[in-house]
Amino acid sequence: MKVLVTGAAGSIGRVVTVGLVDRGHTVVGLDRVPQPDGDEGAWYTVDATDPDAVAAVFEEEPLDAVVHLAGHPGEASLPDSLASHVITTGALLDAMVEHDVRRFVYASSNHAVGRTPRAGLADGVLRVDARPRPDTFYGVGKVAAEALMSLYADRYGLDAVACRIGSFLERPETVRNLSTWLSHDDCVRMVDAALTATAPGFAVLYGISRNTRAWWDLEPGRALGYDPQDDAERFLDSIVAGEWDEAHGAHVGGPYATAEFERPALDRSS
Ligand SMILES: NC(=O)c1ccc[n+]([C@@H]2O[C@H](COP(=O)([O-])OP(=O)(O)OC[C@H]3O[C@@H](n4cnc5c(N)ncnc54)[C@H](O)[C@@H]3O)[C@@H](O)[C@H]2O)c1
Repeated sequence: MKVLVTGAAGSIGRVVTVGLVDRGHTVVGLDRVPQPDGDEGAWYTVDATDPDAVAAVFEEEPLDAVVHLAGHPGEASLPDSLASHVITTGALLDAMVEHDVRRFVYASSNHAVGRTPRAGLADGVLRVDARPRPDTFYGVGKVAAEALMSLYADRYGLDAVACRIGSFLERPETVRNLSTWLSHDDCVRMVDAALTATAPGFAVLYGISRNTRAWWDLEPGRALGYDPQDDAERFLDSIVAGEWDEAHGAHVGGPYATAEFERPALDRSS
């Protein structure tokens, strides 16, 4: 497939670009920063919040799919979060409809449901049909982006897969990561499955590895062909317990679900 990868210069974008090319896809990169050294594919330096600039890329490149990774991977003000996650998603989905590009894969986040308490989860894992329960404005942005994908799947028949990523890292670093880790190789497996699953419509999966201590249900991903191979438990001996582990284990969003992240939605200081 010929795939537009947004956020291609970022940490997930670089791994996914190499991984998709290895799997036989052609990648067109898009980011608001210039093409990283060594990346040789087609490249567009574009701010994905700009619908005209995004549309111009689709005019230039015939595409089969979009993998949307561009966005600020953390908490910000409400307006900044909405721009980074919802406006970019809207610009891409509009261009897809206009150019009949049918498959959208999105880097959503566990923070879309991060305020869900872990106590009382059936079998200890959260299902994909749990109510949206964001822990931050970042999480609100991810919930709203997923809602936009659902709307475009219903209105226009697009296939749109939201991957609620846990913690994308080379290796787990904290006790929480033993549950939330997504390995680099599994991330590529996940994106490739979301790109190639047959007629998923609007679908949600949890983007974590096959962790022994997983907090999220892996079955919806498996139903789409995502078969994770790595398990954070392999790194157990290298993980040092921290004083925050208990607080960060109370809700699935970890630190983002604590009082530390409570702040006003709008900055009135200027
Ligand atoms: N890293 C994780 O563990 C994790 C977990 C859950 C979800 N995610 C999501 O995955 C995506 C990628 O995360 P990452 O860790 O690679 O972040 P990153 O910051 O390393 O990469 C993001 C990239 O997007 C680009 N970008 C940001 N806003 C843009 C815009 N408006 N237009 C064009 N490019 C823009 C940045 O320049 C950067 O290269 C984000 O949407 C993030 O919310 C990441």
